[in-house]
Amino acid sequence: MSAEVAVPGAHRRPRLDRWLKPAVFVLCLLPFFWLIARFLIYGFGANPIETGIRYLGDWSLRFLLIALAVTPVRIVTGWIVVARLRRMLGLFAFTYVALHVIGYVAIDQFFDWAAIGRDIIKRTYITFGMIALVILIPLALTSADSMVRRLGGARWRNLHRLVYVAGVAAVFHYYFMVKAGHLQPLIYGAILAGLFAVRIYKRFA
Ligand code: HEM
Repeated sequence: MSAEVAVPGAHRRPRLDRWLKPAVFVLCLLPFFWLIARFLIYGFGANPIETGIRYLGDWSLRFLLIALAVTPVRIVTGWIVVARLRRMLGLFAFTYVALHVIGYVAIDQFFDWAAIGRDIIKRTYITFGMIALVILIPLALTSADSMVRRLGGARWRNLHRLVYVAGVAAVFHYYFMVKAGHLQPLIYGAILAGLFAVRIYKRFA
């Protein structure tokens, strides 16, 4: 959800760099198309709603971490072109989160706002999911270059640092959801911590 970094001499970019963004765009669509194909070909088994929501939840968290990995990858490898992908990956993360939440609100709960409100208060994992969502909404809304200008660079950067808080809330959301076998959310948490560590190291090095 960050503004793109202008790459000097972009008009003379090598072929790989020119194809990178469209190729990654298509790759980002694949989990969505696989969801549709899987549904049409195999169905979703005994509990299609839960399967669909969980599938989208998994990809929401993966895309969030992939978007957060852009800057650490640039820092570690020095490959600055990767920064061009940051906003697009962030917006894909938000789109998958939105589909995940729409699945829960519209298909699982049938817009029963009272039941959804009770879930937010009573189920810890839904509380953390909502925290992540509430943080990500303003970040998605302010991702355009015009918003960077309107807010001013420093204010915009401070706002967008909150994406790490959203990441922590999303990992807790997953952690509290699973009843046994917490390995997977812990792995996601470790990746998030590693990405954050690279940024902190760079800041103080
Ligand atoms: C950044 C925001 C969010 C992320 C990254 C996220 C991610 C996830 C993940 C990884 C799972 C577990 C998937 C699995 O078991 O393989 C999940 C499950 C779920 N999430 Fe989210 N989520 C987010 C926000 C929300 C919000 C706001 C809600 C509802 C208000 C929500 C409702 C659910 C539900 C109902 C499940 C499935 C629970 C079940 O199967 O019993 N999520 N989510």
